[in-house]
Amino acid sequence: MSPASSSCLKRGSAAILAMLMGVAAGAQQLLIIGHRGASGHRPEHTLESYRLAAQMGADYIEPDLVSTRDGVLVARHENEIGSTTDVATKFPDRKTTKSVDGVEISGWFSEDFTLAEIRTLRARERLSARSQAFDGRFAVPTFDEVVALAQALERELGRTVGVYAETKHPSYFSGIGLLLEPPLLETLERHGWNDRRAPVFIQSFETSNLRDLRTQTELRLIQLLDERGGPWDRRTAESFRTYAELATDAGLRDIAMYADGIGANRRLIVPADEKGTLRPPTDLVSRAHRLGLLVHVWTLRSDPPFLSPDYRGRPEAEYEQFRDLGVDGIFTDFPDVAVRVLKPLR
Ligand code: G3P
Ligand code: CA
Repeated sequence: MSPASSSCLKRGSAAILAMLMGVAAGAQQLLIIGHRGASGHRPEHTLESYRLAAQMGADYIEPDLVSTRDGVLVARHENEIGSTTDVATKFPDRKTTKSVDGVEISGWFSEDFTLAEIRTLRARERLSARSQAFDGRFAVPTFDEVVALAQALERELGRTVGVYAETKHPSYFSGIGLLLEPPLLETLERHGWNDRRAPVFIQSFETSNLRDLRTQTELRLIQLLDERGGPWDRRTAESFRTYAELATDAGLRDIAMYADGIGANRRLIVPADEKGTLRPPTDLVSRAHRLGLLVHVWTLRSDPPFLSPDYRGRPEAEYEQFRDLGVDGIFTDFPDVAVRVLKPLR
């Protein structure tokens, strides 16, 4: 090979490398959020699920938070813990019925158990269609343990692993004297995560606690928006009583006063009918971006019941669609699929 063609090849290679790095740098802006960890592969909200998510390449791990009787934050999707632990066999007499956000629920509730009691429980898979192979093996972690894990993973993996924490039923917990926000901020502060540079998001389906948090912390806040219904704390409010109202331009302007972004149900961006057939995308992403709001979308799952038939059995296609629509982050139960599509060079 002549020196000229060799040099040309090198320049070509450098250009391709630069282009690929550019693609990678761009793609890195799109956050992969391990929804309840890598919950497509391990029982949700366990340290093992979070660890696997980070090892697969997730940028953030996502704990949902509820309180124990002694005021300790633990990672569970809801305060009824019978669906995701063996509490029914260990504490059969504690079953009760409560009204949570206007819904009557029978089961076992985190706020009726001390942390010492919660520590005796083991997690189990929520969904019958997923593997039960890890049932009975993993504990219910505290929020403190989740943050410590993220920071240990950062050292282990040589890259930042953030925490994307959700306050579950904040009004309900406030009403029974177990505020979620003070221990949340105190835990993050103790681990040195207390300013806007911290790899932390705090999310809520309610609005008041985010408004209050805005006055207490610089950490980034995300207003969750569901496809239907509205924030429990706004059920008697005069305005923005529903998520649909919050997703209007006026609602988004209001959100922009206290939050850094929205966490939207994917169907607010790519609607679908009852059979899962997709409809044309909405303009929510561009309208939110115009107001400077981040847009994170939830939740992408590879399991057939959650995957639109329009993706023809190819979960990757859903990531490609939301990437092309310009979202800033994707919650997924399968971070391995997300990484394969969104960060192929990692
Ligand atoms: O927090 C984003 C998404 O997780 C909201 O849904 O019900 O899985 O907490 P959920
Ligand atoms: Ca969540």
